[in-house]
Amino acid sequence: MSASAIDIDRIGEDVALLDGIRTTRAIRRLRPDPVPRELIRKVCACGTFAPSGGNRQPWLFIAVTEPERRAFVAERYRAAFHAYIEPARRAAQAPDFPEARRRNLRAALHLADHLHEAPVHLFVAGWTRRGEPQLQALFPAIQNILLACRAVGLGASLTTIHRAHGREIDAWLGLPEGCPTCALIPIGWPRGKYGTPPRRSVDACLCFERFDPERGSGSGGRTLA
Ligand SMILES: Cc1cc2nc3c(=O)[nH]c(=O)nc-3n(C[C@H](O)[C@H](O)[C@H](O)COP(=O)(O)O)c2cc1C
Repeated sequence: MSASAIDIDRIGEDVALLDGIRTTRAIRRLRPDPVPRELIRKVCACGTFAPSGGNRQPWLFIAVTEPERRAFVAERYRAAFHAYIEPARRAAQAPDFPEARRRNLRAALHLADHLHEAPVHLFVAGWTRRGEPQLQALFPAIQNILLACRAVGLGASLTTIHRAHGREIDAWLGLPEGCPTCALIPIGWPRGKYGTPPRRSVDACLCFERFDPERGSGSGGRTLA
């Protein structure tokens, strides 16, 4: 979509909140077409409406858009992701490996191999407090950004694998000590469509008053691996 064809003020404003929540999912196949800076500003502005302890608003957003800078990020992401995913990749060769997980794996691999093509690498960083990252505030901000991307028609996904090269990337971004990145959100116009992601039924994870093994056993009653 060309920048001039977009009404930044109006785009996304008509998406019903609950429907938007239910149809926000990881969109990892992205077109290389540029995204207007004003639209990046709009989705980040939604991030700033997240809750934070003491309303300290510790977040900082850095949008990397220059191709050679994206290539720098993508090279590190790809190496870290392939190392991380190797066991799952091997497991996925088993015939009884669930098809939904296989699809998810394929999409994650596609992102790792095509990250340099994603027109925006949005890093979310945050000021630490008493030496600890304030992730409790950063992840709500990230979710707001993902929802805002859904509303305006951008594809996006939450990733953290770049943290394997975290210190190097944080320094390369020029971030000061005490403000590390926690997530990288690749953003672009989606190649596919939004849709309802596969999820366990709420009935498998909602109990009232106290844990009920009959209802709260959606993960097989075990700690998730
Ligand atoms: C904290 C966190 C870190 C994640 N890191 C990555 C990542 O580095 N790379 C990736 O491809 N997916 C990552 N994911 C998973 C996806 O963002 C996504 O949530 C998951 O695949 C479910 O996709 P769906 O919403 O389309 O069903 C991460 C998810 C969370 C919550």
